[in-house]
Amino acid sequence: MTRRFLFVLGSSRSDGNTELLARRAAEQLPKDVEQQWIDLTAHPLPDFEDLRHDSDRVRPTEGNVALLLDATLAATDIVIASPLYWYTLSAQTKRYLDYWAGWLRTPGLDFKATLAGRTLWGVTALAEYEPKVADPLIGSLNNSAAYMGMRFGGVLLGNGSKPGDVLNDGEALARAKTFFQGETPLARYAHES
Ligand SMILES: Cc1cc2nc3c(=O)[nH]c(=O)nc-3n(C[C@H](O)[C@H](O)[C@H](O)COP(=O)(O)O)c2cc1C
Repeated sequence: MTRRFLFVLGSSRSDGNTELLARRAAEQLPKDVEQQWIDLTAHPLPDFEDLRHDSDRVRPTEGNVALLLDATLAATDIVIASPLYWYTLSAQTKRYLDYWAGWLRTPGLDFKATLAGRTLWGVTALAEYEPKVADPLIGSLNNSAAYMGMRFGGVLLGNGSKPGDVLNDGEALARAKTFFQGETPLARYAHES
């Protein structure tokens, strides 16, 4: 299967540090790797409604929910590009992942089986200089990947407060050059390793 990266942008401002860092990493992908970028501000998802246990769930066929669902199913690699907000994912990206819970139970999608073995990645900008403060975000993505039977490529972190700051983080830019060449082991919960 040709590799196809889906970048899900979840900042509350355009041209922010997270997107800048994600684009630096994406520049290094081989030309034959397809890239799809979806900005959740331009394509907002409505509030997630938990209808998992309703019997009449059907596959969404229009609007941003269908756009995100189709892009997700088509991707071999899903990159959650979220700034660090209150030590974890932005509301926009968290909501996108909440939709996964609904898609898991939508008849005919085989959502879990389709995503199993594919790879989840993260890219995050944060204002603080201590990367450990991003552990809740990293744990959230790692555990989500483990639940889904996915691989986890880790999270590329970059420092910055105002837009453009991350371009001064030389270590992050260096990590971006090889980030998508990194290992992608099957995700495991911490208690399994
Ligand atoms: C709602 C909100 C919450 C934030 N929470 C944190 C945080 O917990 N830790 C941190 O280091 N920075 C935090 N920041 C700062 C952002 O992570 C930082 O400005 C980052 O560069 C924003 O990324 P962006 O430019 O891609 O939007 C927060 C910013 C906002 C707006």
